[in-house]
Amino acid sequence: MNCRRSDAPSPWLETLRLALREFTSADFDDLHRLDTDPRVMKYVNRGRPATREETAAAIRRIVRYPRLYPDLGIWYATRRDTGAFIGWFSLKYAGRSPDVEIGYRLLHDAWGHGYATEGAAALLDFGFDELGLHRIIGVTDPGNTASQHVLKKVGMSDRGWGRYYDKRLRLFAADNAEPAR
Ligand SMILES: CC(C)(COP(=O)(O)OP(=O)(O)OC[C@H]1O[C@@H](n2cnc3c(N)ncnc32)[C@H](O)[C@@H]1OP(=O)(O)O)[C@@H](O)C(=O)NCCC(=O)NCCS
Repeated sequence: MNCRRSDAPSPWLETLRLALREFTSADFDDLHRLDTDPRVMKYVNRGRPATREETAAAIRRIVRYPRLYPDLGIWYATRRDTGAFIGWFSLKYAGRSPDVEIGYRLLHDAWGHGYATEGAAALLDFGFDELGLHRIIGVTDPGNTASQHVLKKVGMSDRGWGRYYDKRLRLFAADNAEPAR
């Protein structure tokens, strides 16, 4: 089944199997489906599925983000073969810190196919090669071993612990070998 909406923005980044595009307010139902699955939310949002109001506020923040911080954001991810929504990937400041972090949140039925690794690796390359970032981090709840595994698989190293989002989180990071001048 091809699920592409004809009015949706075009993808700006494609990997072998995934396409990333900007979110719009019309993506509410997809984001709400993602954010109300307790399996998906186990280690995020304090383990609590989102309310409709929270999803609406999240969409507004996501749509506004690249206007405030060009080239950074949270992007709607689909499978290139079917066009089906699988979740999102992000490259953005980690809360109020100056550190740029990689993030991802995928629908449960999209887990275990290597999609998180594929999307995160592409955003890491984008952040280093196109944006010239010196360092990109990833932070996870201590129990989120699947996410920690993804961060290690894309080449980040374990840097112990850090304080982000007013929480003590596991910290991973990669440094750009040759930062842009
Ligand atoms: C974290 C998440 C994105 C991983 O997605 P995914 O598509 O399954 O990831 P990948 O398939 O690319 O890789 C997952 C890796 O972790 C491994 N893994 C899965 N569950 C694991 C667990 N409980 N402990 C350790 N490793 C685990 C997989 O075997 C795989 O490694 P492999 O390729 O070496 O076998 C997905 O679980 C998710 O969306 N979770 C909910 C939201 C979330 O927690 N986001 C991250 C917040 S920091």
